[in-house]
Amino acid sequence: MRLSVIGCGYLGAVHAAAMASIGHEVVGIDVDESKVTALREGRAPFFEPGLPEILTEGVASGGLTFTTDIAAAAGAAVHFIGVGTPQQKDGYGADLTYVNAAVDALLPHLSPGDIVAGKSTVPVGTAAVLAERIAKKGATLVWNPEFLREGWAVKDTIDPDRLVTGVPEGSAGERAADILREVYHPSVAKGTPFIVTDYATAELVKVAANAFLATKISFINAMAEIAEVTGADVTALADAIGHDARIGRRFLGAGVGFGGGCLPKDIRAFSARAEELGRGESVAFLREIDAINLRRRERAVQLVISSLGGSVHGKRVAVLGAAFKPHSDDIRDSPALDVAVRLRGLGADVVVTDPQAIENSRRVHPQLTYIEDRDEALTGADAVVVVTEWDEYRRQLSPEHAASLTHGRIIVDGRNCLDPAAWRAAGWEYYGMGRP
Ligand code: UDX
Repeated sequence: MRLSVIGCGYLGAVHAAAMASIGHEVVGIDVDESKVTALREGRAPFFEPGLPEILTEGVASGGLTFTTDIAAAAGAAVHFIGVGTPQQKDGYGADLTYVNAAVDALLPHLSPGDIVAGKSTVPVGTAAVLAERIAKKGATLVWNPEFLREGWAVKDTIDPDRLVTGVPEGSAGERAADILREVYHPSVAKGTPFIVTDYATAELVKVAANAFLATKISFINAMAEIAEVTGADVTALADAIGHDARIGRRFLGAGVGFGGGCLPKDIRAFSARAEELGRGESVAFLREIDAINLRRRERAVQLVISSLGGSVHGKRVAVLGAAFKPHSDDIRDSPALDVAVRLRGLGADVVVTDPQAIENSRRVHPQLTYIEDRDEALTGADAVVVVTEWDEYRRQLSPEHAASLTHGRIIVDGRNCLDPAAWRAAGWEYYGMGRP
């Protein structure tokens, strides 16, 4: 099928390349000239395992092209909208500027029978408004949220655990759902759940899923706070409750909490939208989820301060990790970088290292010192903080080797990803999050 993908950021670039990889003819469109140039050359503008391969393949075969010219969308059967919906500068709500601009730009190039498939995360009610404008062109809007995780984006797009499509009532909706089934044919053929629903439900599925995940993380972090005043171990607690199949162990990793381009902004936008709808109280708990999450960053900072005897001033602190999670170079709302910035603000001599995220970090926080080499970053440190659980720190760094490099033997495990017994045995003072 011929497809267009409008917006070639994380979501759009991966979607375009993934759709080409399953045999569609895809044009990716973005207003950012430099992004388009990179993608045309088969270069991914961000670190995402597996993306460079499918990008190069698609571009080389001619099935995947990129342009800044929106007119290139004409002739595609389905137009995916994958632009960003960031948090508003002066509030909690989602900024829909890019979604509206994409639809405005696309409208003149739509033909009757075309499908416009919204993938961006939007406040519930957005699709219904956009649908009217799109229907005037004889085209049909569907809402087809994306659940990809950074680091697993290619797999999540090509082989998702479910597909959700919000359609209008009647035959136009049925036809649109059939076309989406065709787009996602390989997944549909292997039996991936394909849920057809109304616009509001489709929009809500996405924010509800992210709200649930954020709640799960903050729940265990709240338990970590209780563990801290009782001497309990939140990791053992998570293991024990995680055995209950109704609860499950995943997303019960206590630590410095969630960050990234989705969870934080999506729960805030959800609260803001619920308030607009007069139902703020229904999701009032999300404010608490956000507050717990932010408190954990401060907790990590406090652990460093207390472990260094009450002040970090002039102390060298090696911060291992800057990305909001491993397998990503994304630093948006990164707890790791936030911890580094706070420590530096308190006068610590902070050295940050990360396998992928240094370039992005330096752009946003040029005041921090960055060292690419992990061992060099550890050298001479009075204290070490692990804030992103890259394998380079959790598996490939032995406490003995680390001890041969640092000045002090203090380790703060902001992700509860190290073995406390092994570090203590090697002479380290180990501090976890919600662990004795
Ligand atoms: C998330 C959703 O998982 C995805 O479905 C949605 O489409 C976009 O938002 P992503 O932002 O890539 O994906 O990251 P995710 O893997 O969900 O992790 C989010 C944050 O939670 C990270 O900062 C991670 O470190 C943190 N986290 C995750 C925890 O603190 N503890 C956990 O147990 C799991």
